[in-house]
Amino acid sequence: MRTFSVKSFGCQMNVYDSERIAEALAADGLIAAEEGEADLLVLNTCHIREKAAEKLYSEVGRISKRARKSGTEKPVIAVTGCVAQAEGGEIMRRAGAVDLVVGPQAYHRLPELLRAHAGGQKDIVDLDMPARSKFDQLPARVRRAPSVFLTVQEGCDKFCAFCVVPYTRGSEASRPLSGIIAEATILAQGGAREITLLGQNVNAWRDPANHSADFGTLLRAVAAVPGVERLRYTTSHPRDVSEAMVRAHAEIPQMMPYLHLPVQSGSDRILAAMNRKHDRRFYMDLIARFRAARPDLAITSDFIVGFPGETEADFEETLSIVDAVGYAQAFSFKYSPRVGTPAAEQDDQIGEDVKAERLQRLQERILANALSFNRSMVGQRCDILIERRGRRPDQWIGKSPWLQSVVVTDAALEPGQIVNVELVAAGPNSLEGRMVTMTTAVAW
Ligand code: 5AD
Ligand code: SF4
Repeated sequence: MRTFSVKSFGCQMNVYDSERIAEALAADGLIAAEEGEADLLVLNTCHIREKAAEKLYSEVGRISKRARKSGTEKPVIAVTGCVAQAEGGEIMRRAGAVDLVVGPQAYHRLPELLRAHAGGQKDIVDLDMPARSKFDQLPARVRRAPSVFLTVQEGCDKFCAFCVVPYTRGSEASRPLSGIIAEATILAQGGAREITLLGQNVNAWRDPANHSADFGTLLRAVAAVPGVERLRYTTSHPRDVSEAMVRAHAEIPQMMPYLHLPVQSGSDRILAAMNRKHDRRFYMDLIARFRAARPDLAITSDFIVGFPGETEADFEETLSIVDAVGYAQAFSFKYSPRVGTPAAEQDDQIGEDVKAERLQRLQERILANALSFNRSMVGQRCDILIERRGRRPDQWIGKSPWLQSVVVTDAALEPGQIVNVELVAAGPNSLEGRMVTMTTAVAW
């Protein structure tokens, strides 16, 4: 086996894990290749909703079919991520083409597991959640990109009634501050100007080596790493917001004016049934505190419609919280029953047609808010971090401080530049910028 390809599904934490898996395989001598040409395919899966989990099986079917059609040997298939953890060896029974199943806390062992597979071992399953963290055993980061992810916390102890994460990712665990700073330093030295700290409950972070160091301490420490010009984090839980975290938005210059704070529902009755451990009032008070610290904050959320027992009146409260907060953007999903979670057992499940209709109404409301948020920025100037090329050859796409995608037309730009633009037009999902000046030289 000489070449590999990693395909990522699901959340940003999976994107990060996929990068680390790729780096671990490359450090072991394998060479990255296009998906169709790789000897090894790693599918890093998501289990959050049924549709996401089913993607694994359609993907394996597609890979097997492609190999059959072209008369080539099927690549070795390794399934990693949350479906691996949730379904284990069951995956091989359902999809015989899968060779290895490796959970999210065990993927640092992939090189040795692949050697065992090459040595003739069949149906390898490793779902261990070892005491010694994978982060201590993975090779140092080599990724070079203007904007990078850095996982600082994993797992969840909140047990929302709908969610599989506590089962797939385990209980809340934080990485030590020293390891995070070492990784941030390497990433910044490699040219990263923006770091997004990741965790399923990122703001529950506490230094395992020093419990008095909380998420506010972490934000300050990462912002102090030379080269880190922009700092973000996701996903936060309302219950874990501290005063230090709120103040960070007022006091740390690198802190971007952006906050992803999922509320899931606007109805107190549904929030209680979801076991969210906060009500609408508590959430709105948090929003007011963050806005007092940083008045131009862009706030985004996740929503679930059609949670068991959700009435039309409950749903209307969800619509009203969208307007009350004035979200800059939001993700919204139909409730998907997940085996093993309490809500899946409830007998007041909502019909598919009602879920679909509510999702559409919610998305219209979110889109209207996003559009008015983006339009309110037209005429302003801001710095954008150039990340990649746009559709046209002279187009570039960068991110505003509020995490909006901004399209600029200027052939001379390069990824990693931070440029000052005037925002001249807005749609619900992106803005158009016109170059004003280049504020910083190329550092990447
Ligand atoms: N059904 C639908 N959406 C879900 N989410 C989590 N679990 C489910 C589920 N069972 C959504 C939540 C969460 C986001 C990552 O996915 O909104 O914040
Ligand atoms: Fe999906 Fe959750 Fe796993 Fe991320 S942590 S991949 S959202 S199930």
